Amino acid sequence: MKVYRFDAQGQLRMEDAAIPQPGPGEVRVKVETVSLNYRDLLMQDAAHTGQLPGRMPVSDAAGSVDAVGDEVDNRRIGQKVVVAFFRDWIDGRFRPDYMTSAWGGQSRDGVLSEYIIAPANAVAAMPGHLNSVEAAALPCAGVTAWHGLIARGKLQAGDTLLVHGTGGVALFGLQIGAALGARVIALSSSDAKLERAKALGASDLINYRTVPDWDKVVLDLTGGEGASHVLELGGPDTYQRSLNALAAGGTLVQIGVLSGFGPQPNLGRLQTLNADIAGITVGSARHLAELSGFLTEHALHPVIDKVFGFDEAAAAYDHLRAAGHFGKVALRICS
Ligand SMILES: NC(=O)c1ccc[n+]([C@@H]2O[C@H](COP(=O)([O-])OP(=O)(O)OC[C@H]3O[C@@H](n4cnc5c(N)ncnc54)[C@H](OP(=O)(O)O)[C@@H]3O)[C@@H](O)[C@H]2O)c1
Repeated sequence: MKVYRFDAQGQLRMEDAAIPQPGPGEVRVKVETVSLNYRDLLMQDAAHTGQLPGRMPVSDAAGSVDAVGDEVDNRRIGQKVVVAFFRDWIDGRFRPDYMTSAWGGQSRDGVLSEYIIAPANAVAAMPGHLNSVEAAALPCAGVTAWHGLIARGKLQAGDTLLVHGTGGVALFGLQIGAALGARVIALSSSDAKLERAKALGASDLINYRTVPDWDKVVLDLTGGEGASHVLELGGPDTYQRSLNALAAGGTLVQIGVLSGFGPQPNLGRLQTLNADIAGITVGSARHLAELSGFLTEHALHPVIDKVFGFDEAAAAYDHLRAAGHFGKVALRICS
């Protein structure tokens, strides 16, 4: 089979490898599509400094079960599946030791390969109304939005949700929020992208480039109350404004590092607002299954910006880094 690995200079190199065999409790997935996330750019940056030689990147895959190991009774050959972000976080609360089980990170190879081996419990059935390009968008971006807004934030109809930008996580948040009947306020650097966000269900649009004090606009739009839920993706450059825009009793869902790590906001306001911060690291296989059920129930399709071929991995990374995308960037591995 063909796989991609970073070389010592951080360049992606396609190599030959033996097709792996599933062990007890495992399945082999023939990968049809993978999707890229901002995290993959961070891993590429690390690879460029020589930190990840030999690492196979990328976390998100969808495909079909191609072989089944002993002791697997919940998956069958030919079944279409989506692979969960963590091999080990199946259900329940997060545990720190799950962290090293994330695909395509500092500790473990990823899914940019024609075949992968996954624990049978760490794959979910592919929603029947999605193709594999759409399904591969779910494991990181979709599950992160679901875990933050629904499992932790308990978002419901009548709430007000603020989303940062029009990338993968943000558009899942927008679509989930709009489907539930929440009011969605979208931020973007592009008026054209804001119009597309409106078509997806955003009711209020703010260009954060031309309106840098967007927190004040959110307060104005909500009669001074603020947003009950903020999908905080920007990091240090946006965190304080996100807090300023948060409503009493609300939840700031802390996810993103688009402007770097380690925000140092003034948290005093949280106390007087009786508000919460939900820190999120993607989510579990259970969250993936719940999200799949929700997308099916509401006939929602993830937003796909562009699909590249398997031999175009470097171009796909460049496309994501240029940040002109709206939604998800994918690579088709095989059909
Ligand atoms: N904690 C977790 O478990 C977790 C999981 C998934 C993602 N993340 C993080 O969440 C962030 C988004 O990830 P993603 O994969 O969805 O990224 P993405 O698809 O690459 O989205 C990037 C988009 O974010 C918007 N953006 C950039 N800087 C912004 C800013 N200062 N304010 C508002 N919007 C801004 C831009 O949208 P416009 O072009 O519309 O301006 C840009 O196109 C990343 O930092 C990622 O590392 C964290």
